[in-house]
Amino acid sequence: MKLKVYKDKQEVARQFSNYFAELVKDKTEFHVALSGGSTPKIVFDVLASNYGDKIDWSNIHFYWGDERCVPPTDNQSNYKMTVEHLFSKINVPEENVHRVLGEAEPDREAMRYANLLEINLDRVEGVPQFDLVILGMGDDGHTASIFPHEIDLWNAEDHCVVATHPDSGQKRVSINGKVINTAKEVVFLVTGAGKAKKVQAILGKTEDYHAYPASLVNPFSGKLVWFMDEDAASLLKQ
Ligand code: 6PG
Repeated sequence: MKLKVYKDKQEVARQFSNYFAELVKDKTEFHVALSGGSTPKIVFDVLASNYGDKIDWSNIHFYWGDERCVPPTDNQSNYKMTVEHLFSKINVPEENVHRVLGEAEPDREAMRYANLLEINLDRVEGVPQFDLVILGMGDDGHTASIFPHEIDLWNAEDHCVVATHPDSGQKRVSINGKVINTAKEVVFLVTGAGKAKKVQAILGKTEDYHAYPASLVNPFSGKLVWFMDEDAASLLKQ
């Protein structure tokens, strides 16, 4: 595991963009699962502005680690956010964007998406393998859409599960723990002071850190990188 701490979220976005560009260099096929929420917005903006015309996006296939069960036009949609901050600014073929159909019936969509991953990705012991999974972490220690109150979903047999947001009750489709940990590489993008306590618990293995789904991210490849700003890393021992 590697920790990369930068002064602010702008610098995290810049450094991650450089890292991503390096990862996809010379790759003719690269499958990446994106995270949602608000952290990726600045990352996608910087990626588009710094590498929009430098990366051959036709070699990259985009998926989501989780999506809210809302239409793609809804402001809650991770797909909509990604169009606004990335896809609207780069030349990516439509067929390379594999969105979760947020407007569909959640259980059916979870099954459809799991099948799509099986078809599109290489499989390791039957589990679809992403080249890269990008994750965020909630203030409650959730990741993708595996929340602490239903942490058992992490070990679900199905590659994709239907989760429920603990406060809003909003349904979400999420990849499970096995798909995350089968990825060739996993990157956390975590910024802001609100994350500091959970970052400290998970990386310091203190309090009941194993109650936080983000603590279960441990790719078999060993390739796990945390990109953080100083606020999110502020409680880590130097
Ligand atoms: C989502 C995300 C989720 C997110 C965390 C952090 O759909 O909301 O995939 O796992 O990464 O909630 O969200 P912020 O970046 O908004 O803090």
